[in-house]
Amino acid sequence: MNIQWYPGHMTKARRDMQEDVKAVDLIIELTDARAPLATRNPDIEKLGAGKARIILMNKADLAEEAVSFDWVRFFKQKGYDCFFMDARNKNNLKRLLSLIESVCAAKRERDRKRGILNRPVRAMVAGIPNVGKSTLINTIAGRTTAKTGNKPGVTKGNQWIRLNKSVELLDTPGILWPKFEDPEIGLLIAFIGSVNEMIVDERELALELIRFLRKDHGELLDMRYGCEGLSGADTLKRIAEKRGALLSGGLPDYDKAAGILLTEFRSGILGRISLQKPPKSGFLAQPESAEPTAESHAAGIADQKNTDG
Ligand code: G4P
Repeated sequence: MNIQWYPGHMTKARRDMQEDVKAVDLIIELTDARAPLATRNPDIEKLGAGKARIILMNKADLAEEAVSFDWVRFFKQKGYDCFFMDARNKNNLKRLLSLIESVCAAKRERDRKRGILNRPVRAMVAGIPNVGKSTLINTIAGRTTAKTGNKPGVTKGNQWIRLNKSVELLDTPGILWPKFEDPEIGLLIAFIGSVNEMIVDERELALELIRFLRKDHGELLDMRYGCEGLSGADTLKRIAEKRGALLSGGLPDYDKAAGILLTEFRSGILGRISLQKPPKSGFLAQPESAEPTAESHAAGIADQKNTDG
């Protein structure tokens, strides 16, 4: 299954971001903790070159915690400040603030030397669709309720939110990139629901998901649906029968079963599942030493805990 999705509004949003990024000090890049590399947009990487950056692996409540710790370590080895979180949880905001402060310490010092005092740090929140950007902004806005006006040079409509007196966040629309060179990236992005469902055949996607989960998480499928040893199609049939998703004449409704599987995977009902583990090589140039080990895993835990303050 080859998935590609790059509608016109994303081309425009990308162009706008190219301008908006000039007005910010920091990019907060949201990824999905279940597939943190697949959900990093290489275009955002390019647009933000030279800017301070924080990688937030969101929806960590849906990913395997041990794997998320390894990802923290992986990104830190690459020189990125990073932590994982659940954007719906207000308690993460303190942690985010302290990381923003530490990432922007050099900028504050430069400002101070130039006699600029109390200029807030401006951070852009960026990421592909559905990784939780609006949720993060809403959690923040729910707390502060402060929205700031437009800034010169920044696309109208994009929302500035004041996090506190020293940090302002710019909301941006979710963008993908023109072509998923590796079809597996397209699949992972579709599994987590970041591709418009109108362009995806859900039944085919569900069969791909079953194939993918069979590699490492087959027991979760078996436990939930009782489908040990069944083919993909028979797994969907079993789901349809178990859930009473039947067409007239009692035939299994494969489309409905596919929808049930995708929903239960995406919402975590199937279990906490990490779709990607830190690779030896990825689209970021990757030294051999970045392969997680027991030691680097322990260091990942320490790094995340340090960020927890
Ligand atoms: P976006 O702006 O990046 O496109 O994403 P958005 O915030 O709209 O979030 C997409 C979906 O992911 C929403 O669910 C949201 O509630 C959920 N979500 C966001 N952050 C987290 C998280 O950390 N953990 C979990 N488990 N879910 C998260 P939805 O079903 O589309 O909408 P709703 O029913 O929650 O309103």
